[in-house]
Amino acid sequence: MKGVLICGGSGTRLRPLTEITNKSLLPVYDRPLVEYPLRTLIAGGVTDIVVISGNEHIDQMRGYLGDGTRFGCTCTYQVQEKPQGIAQALGLAETFAAGDSICAILGDNIFFDDLASSIKSFKTGGHVFLKEVTDAERFGVAELNGKWKMENGKCEVISIEEKPKKPKSNLAVTGCYLYDNRCFDVIKNLKPSARGEFEITDVSRWYMEQKALTASVLKDEWIDAGTFESLHRAAVMVRERK
Ligand code: DAU
Repeated sequence: MKGVLICGGSGTRLRPLTEITNKSLLPVYDRPLVEYPLRTLIAGGVTDIVVISGNEHIDQMRGYLGDGTRFGCTCTYQVQEKPQGIAQALGLAETFAAGDSICAILGDNIFFDDLASSIKSFKTGGHVFLKEVTDAERFGVAELNGKWKMENGKCEVISIEEKPKKPKSNLAVTGCYLYDNRCFDVIKNLKPSARGEFEITDVSRWYMEQKALTASVLKDEWIDAGTFESLHRAAVMVRERK
């Protein structure tokens, strides 16, 4: 399995902090934000990683992560010319993936659960990680088939929507996605959403329609550190757990 660390985007919600710095390099207590998702990949045994970032920040990302050696992985880099969506960013990793399955993770997501066993045991289809939240309308939202639970704790996803006005559940889709290599063909056939982006939720929905999308529900904290509040909360939480 190959890793795709998605660190593009314009970080508008964090301006002026992101005016000259990539969001993923902002501090979360004692480390740049990107180290947390990077370590989630590495803990899952995913050590061959492509970092996707915009033209304006790719040198900063390379400057910090380098070839990955000091983190115990191999990092290569790919520029996303325009932030046209997370799915588009992932699509840039097709050549890098070279037929393999991928674990894509967003550069602003911090997971306190251990995802390693799910990542290591992934074989085919798609798998997402869900977290109960009180503000589901801010995220991708998944609905589970309550009656059907696989023996390994995974659940079947029966609906998935991007930032719905009326969420069908309180389960946010977090920013870590396991897909087999078919995701690249799916991305090529995507149409932009109403907000003009190629949505990762549409990729997951394709797997759901093939009855091949499973999910696990996280028990510990998860933070999408894309706002001042959540970035601050992330730092406090990391410090508390030291
Ligand atoms: O954090 C989880 C959420 O992430 C999911 O619940 C949503 O389904 C998913 O769409 C995404 O929502 P956000 O609104 O948080 O996405 P955002 O635009 O903040 O982008 C998340 C990361 O992806 C961020 O670190 C920048 C990167 N990105 C984003 C875009 C739009 C790219 O690398 N390229 C892009 O074109």
